[in-house]
Amino acid sequence: MRIDIITVLPELLKSPFEASILKRAIEAGLVQVNFHNLRDYATGGYKAIDDTQFGGGAGMVMMIEPIDKCISKLQAERNYDEIIYMTPDGETLNQGIANHISLKENIIVLCGHYKGVDQRVRDKFITKEISIGDYVLSGGELGAAVLCDAVIRLIPGVLGNETSALTDSFQDGLLAPPIYTKPREYDGMKVPEVLFSGNFPEIEKWREEQAYKRTKERRPDLLNDE
Ligand code: ADE
Repeated sequence: MRIDIITVLPELLKSPFEASILKRAIEAGLVQVNFHNLRDYATGGYKAIDDTQFGGGAGMVMMIEPIDKCISKLQAERNYDEIIYMTPDGETLNQGIANHISLKENIIVLCGHYKGVDQRVRDKFITKEISIGDYVLSGGELGAAVLCDAVIRLIPGVLGNETSALTDSFQDGLLAPPIYTKPREYDGMKVPEVLFSGNFPEIEKWREEQAYKRTKERRPDLLNDE
C-alpha cells in the first residue's frame, strides 16, 4: 500500500511513523508513506496557501490551486483508489472504514487547516471525508496519523501474529474481553480460573461472554439486539 499525505505541517506528522509497528511496516516494505508539503506547490512571492473567505467570515481558507497542483502531479504518476480529506464534518472513523481503506493500493490523505479547504477541492478531488470524532482539532494532521495507524495495522503481515488484529476490539463488532498475564495473583487479585483450564472451547466461550458483557455495559449502541 502507498499513502501520500498532503499537509502544511509535515513535521507534525512524521514521528508516529518513526516508531514501533508503523516503523516496522514501512521498513518491511508493506506500506510506503510519503509526505508532501503543500507550501512547495504554492505560487506567488509569499508562497501563500490560504486566503480570506469570500462573503466574509472569520478564518482563512486553503486555496484550491496549490492543492490541485499537488494532487494532479500525484495522479499523473499513478491511479488513486481513494482521495481522503480529514475534516470534522466527515464520516466518523470506525473499524469498518479502516478495514475498507486497508484493502486499497494507493491513497491520498489531505489534511485541512485553518477553516478548511475551498469547497471546489472537495467537489473536484475528494472521494471520502473522514472525521476522527466530534471535536475540532487545529488541523487534519493528528487525524491523518490516527487514520494511518488504524489502517496500517490491518495490512496483512504488519502485525507479528496474524490473528491479533482479528481479535481487536470492534473487529467482530464487540469490545475486546479482559486480558491477563503473569503473575497469577497480585495483591489478592486473581486471574479467572477458566484461563488455566486448558479447555480452549471453554476459554473461547468465556471470552465471547465477557466481550458481550463489556459491550452491553459500555457501548450498548454497538449491539443490535436492543
Ligand atoms: N480536522 C479538524 N478536526 C478534525 C477531526 N475531528 N477529524 C478529522 N480532521 C479534523
